[in-house]
Amino acid sequence: MRRAVCPGSFDPVTNGHLDIIGRTSALYDEVAVAVLINSSKDGLFSLDERVEMLRETTAEFPNVVVESFQGLLVDFCREREIAVVIKSLRSVSDFDYELQMAQMNHGQGGVETLFLATNPLYSFLSSSLVKEFAKYGGDVSALVPESVSRRLVERLAHERNEHD
Ligand code: PNS
Repeated sequence: MRRAVCPGSFDPVTNGHLDIIGRTSALYDEVAVAVLINSSKDGLFSLDERVEMLRETTAEFPNVVVESFQGLLVDFCREREIAVVIKSLRSVSDFDYELQMAQMNHGQGGVETLFLATNPLYSFLSSSLVKEFAKYGGDVSALVPESVSRRLVERLAHERNEHD
């Protein structure tokens, strides 16, 4: 069984993430989508909410399973016998950090990282930009699935009310 993992913080999942997950699902027998903690980012959605959104929006891929994990990616891979991490590269600005993580994960955990070139339609897209745009009333319905766009609007309205 050829297994791969698509790791990320997915806060929330975007159409760019789904493009990579779909392409990975065509290459491997089983794909784990791992919702992990990026300690340099504050979260808008809880890990459970992110998993729920991913499960809804990846339901069309029968070989994709979604899980959250509060630990190292290399431990996630070891526990599930996953040898390959799939990451996307949007531009050279992603490269330095992604290379460091790939080298760390290979050196410390023996896990290989393979990079897929981001679909140019999504090369500007990130969860952070989507949150920023939505926060100030921007329409993100072309950038994330409809259910995610709805949840974002609800969550940001809730946050605004809490601060008023
Ligand atoms: O979507 P992101 O925020 O770019 O994903 C980064 C993520 C979550 C994959 C990375 O921060 C990660 O692997 N976190 C888990 C903890 C870990 O293994 N850290 C060491 C990385 S070398």
